[in-house]
Amino acid sequence: MADHRPIGIFDSGIGGLTVMAAIQQALPKERLLYFGDNAHVPYGPRSLDEVRAFSHAITRALLAKDCKLVVIACNTASAAALASVREAFSTVPFVGMEPAVKPAVEHTHTGVVGVIATVATFQSALYASVVERFGSGVEVLHQPCPGLVKQIEAGAFDTPATEAMLRGWLEPMLDRNIDALVLACTHYPIVRPLIERIVGPGVRVIDPAPAVARQVERLLDRDGLAAPTAASNGSMIWTSGDPIEFAAMMDRLGMSYSEVRAAHWQKGELNLP
Ligand code: DGL
Repeated sequence: MADHRPIGIFDSGIGGLTVMAAIQQALPKERLLYFGDNAHVPYGPRSLDEVRAFSHAITRALLAKDCKLVVIACNTASAAALASVREAFSTVPFVGMEPAVKPAVEHTHTGVVGVIATVATFQSALYASVVERFGSGVEVLHQPCPGLVKQIEAGAFDTPATEAMLRGWLEPMLDRNIDALVLACTHYPIVRPLIERIVGPGVRVIDPAPAVARQVERLLDRDGLAAPTAASNGSMIWTSGDPIEFAAMMDRLGMSYSEVRAAHWQKGELNLP
């Protein structure tokens, strides 16, 4: 069996592009549809209920575009909504983001690992369950990074202000002797070079995007949904923000796409024209 339908991917903004890039690399034949909810970014300071409502509406819009699988390329939205979209759309395969505590715990020699994510992610049951399942015997330090997503969305990938913010969060964790750092927000890999400069070579920085791409591949194979031949048309992007700014950001990140279009929210529903 083979299936030409696209894969839907979404995030609050440009963060999910780090996951999309990994999927493009692992599965070059697949056609990808991406939605960035820039009208509502950041999701991190919002309530899990509000992010859950956005996630359901975005899923409905992607399924209306005939997506065969949906990737929630946002830790915050996965924490808020992965379980409930799976229940509401029970015939659709979903892949979500889970803080990569397991590989961090497998790596550590100091017995101390750090996790950075949004406030909402740390408040979720998903985060608690990951730490419970994989964190035993190890100290897991968690550090929310309020304001970092805003800096990244503004293109401040390596500015003195972004560096000062990151130093304020990472240096106390370095003082506690972490040797692994989990990037549990899909925006953060965009500033990975800066993070690596701050933490130095003794700390392994973990971005789960390649593992998420492998999980997408496994589900496509399991369900006979993989595309048999490369799609003739490239990835389509929608943003509820400014499509020109979004396209400029994709160019800066070196990503390929065929078009970026504006999408609009209306009375809680999303339309992808
Ligand atoms: N990229 C997101 C995440 O992985 C959302 C961050 C935000 O919008 O605050 O959590």
